[in-house]
Order: sequence, then C-alpha cells, then structure tokens
Amino acid sequence: MTRRWTPGSWREQPAKHIPSDYPEPAELARAEAELRRMPPLVFAGEARRLKSLLAEVSAGRAFLLQGGDCAESFKEFSADNIRDTFRLILQMAVVLTFAGGKPVVKVGRMAGQFAKPRSAPVETVDGVTLPSYRGDNINGMEFTAEARTPDPDRLIKSYAQSSATLNLLRAFAGGGYADLHNIHRWTLGFVDGSPQGARYRELSDKISEALTFMQAIGVTPQSHPDLSRVEFFTSHEALLLGYEEALTRVDSTSGDWYDVSAHLIWIGERTRQLDGAHVEFCRGVKNPIGLKVGPSLEPDDLLALIDALNPGDEPGRLTLYGRFGADKIAARLPRLMRATRDAGRRLVWAIDPMHGNTQVAANGYKTRPFDRILAEVKSFIEIAQAEGVHPGGVHLEMTGQNVTECLGGARALVEGELAQRYDTHCDPRLNGEQALELAFLVAEKLKAEREASPLRAAQ
Ligand code: PEP
Ligand code: CO
Repeated sequence: MTRRWTPGSWREQPAKHIPSDYPEPAELARAEAELRRMPPLVFAGEARRLKSLLAEVSAGRAFLLQGGDCAESFKEFSADNIRDTFRLILQMAVVLTFAGGKPVVKVGRMAGQFAKPRSAPVETVDGVTLPSYRGDNINGMEFTAEARTPDPDRLIKSYAQSSATLNLLRAFAGGGYADLHNIHRWTLGFVDGSPQGARYRELSDKISEALTFMQAIGVTPQSHPDLSRVEFFTSHEALLLGYEEALTRVDSTSGDWYDVSAHLIWIGERTRQLDGAHVEFCRGVKNPIGLKVGPSLEPDDLLALIDALNPGDEPGRLTLYGRFGADKIAARLPRLMRATRDAGRRLVWAIDPMHGNTQVAANGYKTRPFDRILAEVKSFIEIAQAEGVHPGGVHLEMTGQNVTECLGGARALVEGELAQRYDTHCDPRLNGEQALELAFLVAEKLKAEREASPLRAAQ
C-alpha cells in the first residue's frame, strides 16, 4: 500500500458503521477538537510492552486472555462492576496459568469499548421506526427519537468514563488488590454453593501452599515485586474513527503514531474491508492490532489484510480472532491457519467463540448457548494443534456480574430465566460462573496439550 498515511487519511476511504447523521456536524467537530486536547489514556511504552508480550504468545510461550462487556454503558458504570470483571479476569488467568504452565497476558475489553456495529441501521417497534442504538458514545438505548439521535457530548462522557475506569484498573493492578497472596479473597464474589467456586477454592489452596513454600525459601513480594501486582491492558474495537483519530498522537520516545485511547485496538468483522476506513486507520498506528476473522474470509484475502496491517511481519503486532460459530469452524479455520503458517507469518491466532454463536430464544432474547461457545473453543484448540499452530488465546464477552444472558453452564440456565437479569447493552455475556467454567475447561485442554507434547510446549 503506497497511499500516504495520516491520522485522518481514513476519511478518504469508504467507512462502514460510522454515523453520518449527527444533526450538527459543527458540534461533532467541536467535541473532537476537545478530545484532541485531552491527555492520553495510555502511554505508548505500555502499548509496546503489550506488543512484546503478544510476541511471546505468537511464539507459543504465553496465552492471551481478553474479555469484558460487549458494550460498556453509562448506566452500568460503577466501581463494583469494574472490580468484578477485573477480578474475574484474574481468577481465570490463575486457572489458565496453573494448567497451561505459561504466562497469561491479561487484556480487558474495558475502558473504551462503547461503539457497536449493528446489523440494521434502523429498528422498528410497534410500527415506529428509529435509528438503531449504536453504543453509549453515539446515542442512547431508550427507544425515543431523542435518545437515538447521535450526540457529540457522548464522546466526551465516554472519554471521561474510560479515564476513570482505567484509573481504577491501574490502582487494582498495582496497588495490592492483585497480590497473589489475596487469591482466596478474590472468591468473595461467588454465590454460596457454586460448583466453580468450590473448584476455584481448591486451586487457590494449592497456590497458597506453593506461596508459603516459596516464602520459606526467601521468595517474597519484597524480593519479587511481580508477586504483588499484575500487568493489565485495555482494548476496544476501533469503530468510531473520529474518536480514535482525536486520541492519536506522536510518541515522543519513538517518533511513531500511537492511538492512545487503549493499548490494543481491533478491527471488527463488519469493517475489515481492505480498502476501507478502518484498515486504513489501523495500519498507521503502532499499537498491537486485532482483526476479527469470520466465516466469509478467504485465505488470500486474509493474507492481503495481514500484509496491509503488518507489512514488516513484526511479532506481537497482529492478533487474529477467529469467530466462525461452532458449526462452521471446522470447515473454515484450517485453510486460514494453513495459509498464515505456510506464509510464515508471526502472529497470534486466538478464538472469539461468542459472535458466531448468537441466536434468538423463543421469548425474543438474544442469547448464546454455553455448550456451543465451549464447542467452538475446543475445536479451535484441536484444529490449531493439528495444524501445528499455537492456540494463542480466547476473546470473550463476559462480566463479573451474575447476569442471565447465555444459556447453559453448570447451573443449566434455561430460556425462561433469561429475563431475570438480562442487563447487557448489546450482546449476551457469560456471567462470572460461566466464564470461570470455560476457563477450567480450556485449562484442561491446554494441560492435555502440554502433556501430549511436552517438548513443543516448553519451547
Ligand atoms: C464485537 O466484538 O463486539 C463484535 C461486534 O464482533 P465481530 O466484529 O466479530 O462481529
Ligand atoms: Co458483541
């Protein structure tokens, strides 16, 4: 690609899923100008650090755990929600690290995950047609003409919410909450009698025992500060490019452009056109980039996208998230994996088992069956192993809250229960128990991989 890149060059390319119906474009320009003056949310050096960790994943030496809300919202914004999702990620990471014997790179779908691509631009209810809800940084979910009109002030509000969220995440990650010695306290969120809670407590007992032993031989948080903090990164879909552009800055250390709204940004399944605005924007920033890979993508088109986004084949720069659906993955993924493997591309292959497994329940709720989510993850690991590719990670929509949005799991949630706590602002999320159950099942698979090929796994 020879086109000259600037933070605004995406504006010359066709852009999907970016609203063009702001009633007063001058107000949008004013909000973007205000954002341009705001401090960065992340530091470029942190994005480089994440890139180096993802390079470890691409080499098969680490595993990526990425998760959070489908869409963050102003309404669900609270310290408890942030803490509970953060804690869930820590718990899942412990489970995965223990079984897989590899470090887990922790990335939240948090602190900026607002804008949503929608399958239809309008929604009709009882004969009334209004623009679809597009995420809290664009318009409101309420079904009124006023709420559904894009409002530029929402950009400023979502920046502020992202900033407060990130501030708390940084405090949790470095301020003592994430100290491995607190591993038992992280279970407090579990409802009594939860099967996953019991399993988790068993594992934390083992880890506590190991920590006591390590302490006895002199390995303490004082001698090894890593025991008392975690590295935690943020990510979101780079959908609303006006917002991303306003937060794109030159890093004074390297002289390179970084999108400082998050450590990692990704391109969604619906906006990954090679000559489209989203690929244009992402190719020019140096952050680690993600790309959703769905059932319609052909191997040659994938290779062309990889060339556009990572021409220098830098490990850690690009993460692919397969999202096919449990019934399609076996037909689609092997050819794509073979194509990247045969081309010698150094990238992370991960799985998003959520977006290909959405269905509408008889009572009208959008939901996802846990067993299909699990089936897609299992197929992913098996296919990767068969192709000699590292199954590098999982990307999940989940929350630490006890919601009732996905069917099944150990408690066998049924359709009639969906209405009880269906709080998502977009797609159905795994609740804390379901997410932890998934982590245990993935851990078993990874452990089997480690035991079956100890040499390869140790490389
Ligand atoms: C998402 O991750 O919320 C999303 C919209 O996914 P996809 O682009 O894969 O459909
Ligand atoms: Co989603």
